[in-house]
Amino acid sequence: MSSKILVIGACGQIGTELTTKLRELHGTDNVIASDINTRNLELVNAGPFEILDAKNFNAIKDCCVNHEIDTIYLMAALLSATGEKYPMEAWDLNMNSLFHVLNLAKTGQIKKVFWPSSIAVFGPTTPRENTPQHTICEPTTVYGITKQVGERWCEYYHEKYGVDVRSIRYPGIISHKAMPGGGTTDYAVEIYHEAIKEGKYECFLSEDTSLPMMFMDDAIKATTDLMAAPSESISIRSSYNLSAISFTPKDIFESIKAEMPEFTITYQPDFRQAIADSWPSSIDDSVARKDWNWSHDFDLDTMTKEMLSQLKKKYTA
Ligand SMILES: NC(=O)c1ccc[n+]([C@@H]2O[C@H](COP(=O)([O-])OP(=O)(O)OC[C@H]3O[C@@H](n4cnc5c(N)ncnc54)[C@H](O)[C@@H]3O)[C@@H](O)[C@H]2O)c1
Repeated sequence: MSSKILVIGACGQIGTELTTKLRELHGTDNVIASDINTRNLELVNAGPFEILDAKNFNAIKDCCVNHEIDTIYLMAALLSATGEKYPMEAWDLNMNSLFHVLNLAKTGQIKKVFWPSSIAVFGPTTPRENTPQHTICEPTTVYGITKQVGERWCEYYHEKYGVDVRSIRYPGIISHKAMPGGGTTDYAVEIYHEAIKEGKYECFLSEDTSLPMMFMDDAIKATTDLMAAPSESISIRSSYNLSAISFTPKDIFESIKAEMPEFTITYQPDFRQAIADSWPSSIDDSVARKDWNWSHDFDLDTMTKEMLSQLKKKYTA
């Protein structure tokens, strides 16, 4: 029997593309998209959709009962930059939504959970280069604190209650469909849009700030591969390090300039610089590569070509 899946926060940057992929894999009617709003009409009209508040336990439970859901992908969250503006809201949403889903899974109502963590679990005391899977995690953002604590609870629910929860510490995700939702790596998406629309970009990070990043197709592949892996091969129940490419604003600028020689950039670092400075510049993901054969496909230049070609089509249309 095919899995019945609920995606919470499906209208966001990752949820949009994850829902589409899950529908390809499991059938449109077997994947219920949900969000607090209907801002992404293309997704809302593409298959079953429910308005659902991730902070409301009974609403999630009713939705799961009504649709006979056995698997939840919890994508709703307040991200790093927005979380610094609204710390209590970030704590409230990020923690309570996770508890609701873990508690449903604990009762046996839900058989499998995906919940994303982030490189934001790391902090200034973490080794910055090739950051290991197990290392110092002293995050300095509210968002990072929620992800670090969330990881501990995921492992706890697995150990104590046998909950099959799986997680990835996503790096910055770059995509051309939905816009990013208020993170520190958003510049690496905005830069492509501005290159096409304006031919110039003002970057909110300094030119030499190296951060771990990944093209959306690789992030979706990692997510579905991890969820398809046999339970015995999953050795990490907190969250897996995951890595693809690391680059600076100057690197991405040069990659775009190779395709668009007229493109120019200026740098005007803001409060997000301090957040970026507290994160690693590269990640050791050897455990994910060993446990469930993770490997990435896109490097910086192949990603740039794909981003520019897709966005040119979008803006021409
Ligand atoms: N995008 C990245 O670069 C990145 C990197 C690391 C981790 N992550 C994690 O991946 C997950 C998805 O990130 P994203 O980039 O798609 O975020 P996003 O901000 O683009 O999307 C989040 C979605 O959640 C919805 N939402 C907000 N409050 C809600 C509520 N109360 N109930 C239901 N839905 C609600 C929003 O409407 C939005 O559609 C998050 O947990 C995020 O922390 C993302």
